[in-house]
Amino acid sequence: MTTAIYAGSFDPITKGHVSIIRSGLVAFDRIIVAVVINPNKKSLFTVEERMHMIKASVDADARVEVDGFEGLLADYARKQNVRVVLRGLRGVADFEYELQMANMNRNLNAEMETVFIMANDYFYVSSSLVKEAATLGGDVSNVVPEIVARKLRERLGR
Ligand code: COA
Repeated sequence: MTTAIYAGSFDPITKGHVSIIRSGLVAFDRIIVAVVINPNKKSLFTVEERMHMIKASVDADARVEVDGFEGLLADYARKQNVRVVLRGLRGVADFEYELQMANMNRNLNAEMETVFIMANDYFYVSSSLVKEAATLGGDVSNVVPEIVARKLRERLGR
């Protein structure tokens, strides 16, 4: 069974992330969506809320496991006994950062490889833009899963 880890902040998960997970499932039997626990980064949703929204967004697909991790991704992958990290590439702007991160991760865990999937429909979406638009009263329901649109409305009191 081939497994990949798809790590990120997912604050919140967007349709762009869901699309990468769906594409990833074409190549891998199982994907662990790993939410980074970073107490120094201000977030809109708690890790538990984010994990819940991820599960609901993938319709509790049995091939998708949702977890949280603290510390280095390279260590988490080792602990999970997984050798592939999945990343989405939205455009050239992502490339340099991804190249640096892939190489740093390889340096930290020589057994780990980063595999990239090209983002398609939602290449212009990011969690920050979603939060900014929603905070200012914009309708983001086209770019986030239904549960996220609902939770954003609740959180932002709309
Ligand atoms: N569709 C939509 N949005 C996407 C996307 C996609 N396909 N891919 C990425 N994004 C968005 C994310 O939502 C995020 O938006 P935000 O910055 O507005 O919140 C942004 O693009 C950056 O995403 P990403 O690069 O995945 O950052 P991240 O903070 O979500 O995750 C980790 C980065 C967790 C993978 C990385 O910091 C990490 O591994 N941390 C652990 C510590 C560690 O090992 N550090 C050494 C790394 S070499």
